[in-house]
Amino acid sequence: MNKIAVLTSGGDAPGMNAAIRAVVSASHYHGIEVYGVYRGYKGLMDGSIQPLTTESVAGVIHKGGTILKSARSEEFKQPENRQKGIDQLRSLGIKGLVVIGGDGSFIGAQKLAEEGIATIALPGTIDNDLAYTDETIGFDTAVNTVLDAITKIRDTSFSHEKPTIIEVMGRYCGDIALYAGIAGGAGTIIIPEEKGTKDQMIEQIRQGHEKGSLDHIIMLAEGVQSASSLQSELKEKYGISSRISVLGFIQRGGDPTSRDRILASRMGVEAVELLKNGHSGRAVGIRNNQIYHLSISHALKKEKTIDQSMYHLTNLLSL
Ligand code: ADP
Ligand code: F6P
Repeated sequence: MNKIAVLTSGGDAPGMNAAIRAVVSASHYHGIEVYGVYRGYKGLMDGSIQPLTTESVAGVIHKGGTILKSARSEEFKQPENRQKGIDQLRSLGIKGLVVIGGDGSFIGAQKLAEEGIATIALPGTIDNDLAYTDETIGFDTAVNTVLDAITKIRDTSFSHEKPTIIEVMGRYCGDIALYAGIAGGAGTIIIPEEKGTKDQMIEQIRQGHEKGSLDHIIMLAEGVQSASSLQSELKEKYGISSRISVLGFIQRGGDPTSRDRILASRMGVEAVELLKNGHSGRAVGIRNNQIYHLSISHALKKEKTIDQSMYHLTNLLSL
């Protein structure tokens, strides 16, 4: 394999640039020519493909976002449109592709592998919703961004003696809410995986309120409900007034933490070595601090669950 390409797809995540840089540097080391595909699968179909050199990735390791831009593309789900992307790669003699994205992007990568392009998928998403890997690129940065927001919100929550509901991203995964909530000393953490305990959680808020704990921080994962609907519920059912703070896209931006930069660098190098050694349709992950790989189809079949020992902590630490 002497020519490969790299793209970023789906929601961007801090650390994607560090992964691109690692792919380019490792390719350079192994004498492989490397191209960047701009705007994910959309750019692949359109032929937005440019050579990348070590100069192209100088000074990007510390930057959030993705220099290759990202996009979502419904059209790419159709085989005839994917064929356009495959033709674009073949016209440049590119035989391997590194895809950095979340589970949707992984499905695209798996299909491309079945259709004749060697692909390697790297988990790039703040959501941490891929079960086969202990961590995804961008998760640690997002947790730290949320933690910074919690720390600031606590000050005003304390001063005005008002509970605050902080709504965070993660789609159907509660990891951002859980990890940032524990680190930030949240009083209550409500996540989709433990929806069944929601009433118990609300009871906890009510009891805390009664006891005079008025500056309660309530972490709410977006996959459960919106902060505004929970705010109305607290008011209507229990007469508790609260404030809300929907953190939104600040969670996707910012300089990646050292942990994300290192994870992305390790995974980017692994991707190039896998392509060089003739692998295709593989997902790169990390388990117990060891980089490993498995088939994308197996990676996608693993069901994401919450770490119960972490969730258990929330009950013990909440009051
Ligand atoms: P993420 O990769 O962050 O999960 P999405 O779910 O939006 O984000 O997926 C990113 C892109 O992956 C989609 O816009 C689409 O182009 C591609 N993709 C998702 N599902 C499929 C599929 N079933 N077949 C082919 N491509 C897909
Ligand atoms: O997957 C990353 C993510 O930020 C999710 O946490 C969130 O639900 C979603 O993307 C938002 O997507 P969009 O950029 O399409 O609004």
